[in-house]
Amino acid sequence: MDDQANPKPAEWHGAKLDFKESMSYGDYLGLDRILSAQHPLSPNHNEMLFIIQHQTSELWIKLMLHELQAVRRHIKDSNLPPAFKMLARVARIMDQLVHAWDVLATMTPPEYTAIRPYLGASSGFQSFQYRELEFILGNKNANLLAVHEKSPEAHAILERELHAPSVYDEAVMLLARSGLAVAPERLNADWTRPTVADESVKAAWLQVYQDTEHHWALYELAEKLVDLETAFRFWRFRHVSTVERIIGFKTGTGGTTGASYLRKMLDVVLFPELFALRTAL
Ligand code: HEM
Repeated sequence: MDDQANPKPAEWHGAKLDFKESMSYGDYLGLDRILSAQHPLSPNHNEMLFIIQHQTSELWIKLMLHELQAVRRHIKDSNLPPAFKMLARVARIMDQLVHAWDVLATMTPPEYTAIRPYLGASSGFQSFQYRELEFILGNKNANLLAVHEKSPEAHAILERELHAPSVYDEAVMLLARSGLAVAPERLNADWTRPTVADESVKAAWLQVYQDTEHHWALYELAEKLVDLETAFRFWRFRHVSTVERIIGFKTGTGGTTGASYLRKMLDVVLFPELFALRTAL
């Protein structure tokens, strides 16, 4: 038999090699769209890093939002075990994003300066997913919706999130449903405002921590939230440190004072009572 005249179909360790008729890896993941979405504007080699670092961060933020929306529903339904699993996942995603700054930190000031004129006024400050993440965790700021007016879909998502109770608001409502005393004003708070520390909530969490055996699920919830906030703080810190390393104290492309604005954001506390109560333990 002449192999050249009658070639055998290609074979490699039994792997399926013919995808003319069936869905492949790239089809499933929409890789043609994802991998053709990198369009450097400058002639500089390093812009690809800058673009991919932002795009991958946005993908991870998308997953965090997906998880946190489910977390909020589960807490609302007093169904904590799945919420624990998801909160752990979100904290690990955030940890991973903290380490991702190491990659971006390989960009030097002259490398960034070569790109900066091409960025115009665009900045992570305008990330609607990041703003949604802040909102779902309770750091509401109605003023920032204006940034998204040109994108009705993003604006509507943020508007809805602004008015919804945050993950932490749901945790506070669960405290009350569990028989702990929470002030009615806190339970009927204006959800469009950022979380404000409340004495009754602090006292309720304190009871949880002082009798963990009795309140084990709430105790576990509290610690999962502390894990998440801690990871988020590290992310903010690595952002500002990387920014200082790359642009020093120049203003940001988004128009703020740059590193000093980001330093102020380090003071944001998402779950204030969970940190305050520790002094009393
Ligand atoms: C060389 C890299 C980077 C520089 C120099 C930089 C710089 C800045 C600056 C100066 C701001 C303040 C707003 C402004 O005036 O622009 C900012 C905000 C922001 N950046 Fe970056 N950034 C960098 C990378 C990233 C990456 C990789 C992400 C990931 C998504 C990111 C996400 C954000 C977000 C979400 C904000 C808004 C923070 C807030 O309002 O609290 N940045 N950035």
